[in-house]
Amino acid sequence: MSTILTLKDISYSYIDGQSKRTILDHLSYEFESGKFYTILGHSGSGKTTLLSIMSGLDTPNSGTMMYEDKVIDQKALHDFRRNKVGIVFQQYNLINYLTPLENVLVSMAETDNKLPKDSKKVAGKLLEQFGIVSTKANRLVTQLSGGEQQRVAIARALAKNVDLILADEPTGNLDTATEREIIKIFRDLTENFGKTVIVVTHSVAVSQLSDSRILLKDGKLHDVDEALNREIESTI
Ligand SMILES: Nc1ncnc2c1ncn2[C@@H]1O[C@H](COP(=O)(O)OP(=O)(O)O)[C@@H](O)[C@H]1O
Ligand SMILES: [Mg+2]
Repeated sequence: MSTILTLKDISYSYIDGQSKRTILDHLSYEFESGKFYTILGHSGSGKTTLLSIMSGLDTPNSGTMMYEDKVIDQKALHDFRRNKVGIVFQQYNLINYLTPLENVLVSMAETDNKLPKDSKKVAGKLLEQFGIVSTKANRLVTQLSGGEQQRVAIARALAKNVDLILADEPTGNLDTATEREIIKIFRDLTENFGKTVIVVTHSVAVSQLSDSRILLKDGKLHDVDEALNREIESTI
């Protein structure tokens, strides 16, 4: 399997008045293409900070990030954000005065990736795949349920034709049944469409459905299963 995203020696701290608080501490990790990852961690452990860096919305104080073995330097950051990664947020972050269809079209206009010409038709089809039928696709997004809005947000992220989807607590506002629906979509994207999905979550149920569970702790990422094995080994 090939590596899609590499984090190498990433450090990040916030300055709080006089003191410096290190959130990410020489963190390294390689994400393989086509897998569904979940990142777990206590509240305040730095998950959102890490995801902002991984999506190119923020830059680390030091360290390197690579997309498919190419370093994402300052010059490449814009291209990475526009053309390589789609982001899904807990609060959906849709444009509320637009319809689902318009939200997806805005996203399509924001990439340089090659997209089909009949964008309206493609956007409509994409939304339909996620259960947003045309009557719903043409209402204001605020008239949809939370689960529906999150499905629009996933369609919006995918509409740019990217291979990497990052999501920050995407089911944090949803009930258990709707959470399952959303996670099924993520699973399907990795299994049947070769996408790489990295989801930050509090939910153990969500993490159990992923291919690989990672724990963010003390500023570093740890493979949960390896960490568990080590713990077991140390007790026998
Ligand atoms: N802009 C900021 N300035 C100072 N401290 C921040 C800022 N953003 C987040 N923090 C702090 O950094 C830590 C990690 O935050 P965050 O990445 O949001 O954690 P998580 O998403 O895991 O809950 C928290 O203690 C938070 O208070
Ligand atoms: Mg957070």
